[in-house]
Amino acid sequence: MNREEKILLYKEVKFTDVSKELLEQLQKGGFLTVKRDDEVNTMTIAWGSLGFMWKKPIFTAMVRYSRHTYELMESTKNFTVSLPLKGQLEKELKLCGSKSGRDTNKIQECNLTLKEGFLEDSVIIDECDLHLECRIVYKQGMDAATLSSEINDSCYANNDYHVLYYGEIVKAYIK
Ligand SMILES: Cc1cc2nc3c(=O)[nH]c(=O)nc-3n(C[C@H](O)[C@H](O)[C@H](O)COP(=O)(O)O)c2cc1C
Repeated sequence: MNREEKILLYKEVKFTDVSKELLEQLQKGGFLTVKRDDEVNTMTIAWGSLGFMWKKPIFTAMVRYSRHTYELMESTKNFTVSLPLKGQLEKELKLCGSKSGRDTNKIQECNLTLKEGFLEDSVIIDECDLHLECRIVYKQGMDAATLSSEINDSCYANNDYHVLYYGEIVKAYIK
């Protein structure tokens, strides 16, 4: 698909205009998709945040060290978040949140359609309605020593901490 076709198919939106829908769906699950060379992997996320930092709109994704996605995030500049807003893709969100791209091609197994985004190495899940294309501007591994003990005990009993990836939202669009 060329740039003009993409512009016809997708309507660019301000992230502040879709933040309610975005955050409501995020709690149920969205797809975090990353491309490294010829490999594309997606995983389900439900944690993340939306806001303004460094005078930029930012989506922060939390990826545990154990994820295959972590390895891909470490060697790319961009990631996308794709959200189904009409209750579709429940089964696919479950599968992409339980199987690893290390062992399975989840895109094929779920029969998901990939579309090239606007940024370099940005790929979206076409069956979704709302897409963010983000450029990683900062990342930070969690420091367990400064974490509340309540969260440490409830979320990190196995010491599998998150890396926080701060993505500048360069494009936000709906189909
Ligand atoms: C609803 C739901 C939300 C999830 N949210 C996250 C998340 O925010 N961060 C994370 O690291 N893993 C999260 N997971 C777990 C990953 O999606 C899961 O471990 C996945 O298999 C990792 O895939 P990968 O190894 O291909 O990266 C979530 C799983 C589900 C079902």
